[in-house]
Amino acid sequence: MIDIFSEVSAFCDLTIPSAHKVPIAIIGAGGIVDGAQLPAYEKAGLEVVGITDVDLAKAADVADRHGIRKVYQSIDELLADPVPVVVDIAVPAAAQPEIFLKVANAGRNILAQKPMATTVEDGLRMAEAVAHNGIVAGVNHQLRFEEGMAAAHKMVDLGWIGTVTNMTFHVNLITPWEMWPWAKDLERLEIMLHSIHYHDVMRWFLGDPKTVFCAAGRTKDQFPNGETRTISTYVYENGVTGLVHANHINRGGDNYAEYRIDGDKGSIRGTMGLLYDYPVGRVDTLEVNSSVVPTDGWTPYPVTTRWFPDAFIGTMGSVMAAIATGSPVRSSVVETVGTLKLVAALYESMDSGSAVKL
Ligand SMILES: NC(=O)c1ccc[n+]([C@@H]2O[C@H](COP(=O)([O-])OP(=O)(O)OC[C@H]3O[C@@H](n4cnc5c(N)ncnc54)[C@H](O)[C@@H]3O)[C@@H](O)[C@H]2O)c1
Repeated sequence: MIDIFSEVSAFCDLTIPSAHKVPIAIIGAGGIVDGAQLPAYEKAGLEVVGITDVDLAKAADVADRHGIRKVYQSIDELLADPVPVVVDIAVPAAAQPEIFLKVANAGRNILAQKPMATTVEDGLRMAEAVAHNGIVAGVNHQLRFEEGMAAAHKMVDLGWIGTVTNMTFHVNLITPWEMWPWAKDLERLEIMLHSIHYHDVMRWFLGDPKTVFCAAGRTKDQFPNGETRTISTYVYENGVTGLVHANHINRGGDNYAEYRIDGDKGSIRGTMGLLYDYPVGRVDTLEVNSSVVPTDGWTPYPVTTRWFPDAFIGTMGSVMAAIATGSPVRSSVVETVGTLKLVAALYESMDSGSAVKL
């Protein structure tokens, strides 16, 4: 059985070949850069040549702690640096489209944070800028590279569970929203910032649904203003169904984050360890029960890396591979405009109380 996992684990390999490596310049010195992106780049042996932020003291502090030599005083100064780089943008989504367009129009290749924008219109403008300037641009939907999720995707591709009939996410957490003060007043919160990862992955596995329905709620005395609990259902043309349930005010103390994919020849189930104790986390798990390959009941796949920070190597590695070889970016700006369209449909459903056709 271990041998048949080799094709799956090869697909999950995050190694970036030396020939693909180009330096990185970063816009935004916030928590995700400090806590996940820079540790991932260090692990992958990538060079970060400089960083900038509207808060220059913050950029200097992050640069100091991560051994980054240059703090650019502005985005213009970063773009004037002739060193060929991937520009890594990691600022709140409301600020990102304007910065993205400036960087794209300077002809630089980009990895942008998720959500890439808060509206489909901005996402389309960003995709147009990618095409117009002939650049490579990815979005940091790094759950597509988390080892358990990527392994599950490969198992589905290999036909191990036959034809997929259903995919579900069940997530019940106590999320420290205080970590993101800029998110406190956002009207659109849970799906836009968190469950977008699951909705993006559902699209990666199954494509765009025909119809979605979404219900959402808040909990008394919660810190942020926006929705902290959502239940989204999907129906596909071929009768395949999907469900994403996420609650961030779990007073029960039993955090869990599970997913499951059912097919007509087996099932896959996994957990996202990061969310059991964010941002420390624990090991991810993945199991497969298949009548196509020789499993005897639920068989564990040995997940050896984590969503944070390892999967962040994947999104950057995919952009670098595309620059070096012309391969497709796994979560490109152009393709993941579809994720923004799905998110918009879910909010439309939440507001109207009706199912929405995509
Ligand atoms: N799993 C993930 O991929 C993941 C996890 C957390 C956050 N994020 C996303 O990353 C982005 C940043 O989140 P964070 O947690 O680092 O937030 P943060 O508040 O810790 O940091 C944001 C940083 O952006 C800077 N900034 C704001 N506007 C700017 C501008 N116009 N120019 C330059 N810098 C600017 C701020 O000064 C701050 O340092 C958000 O879009 C968030 O949704 C993604």
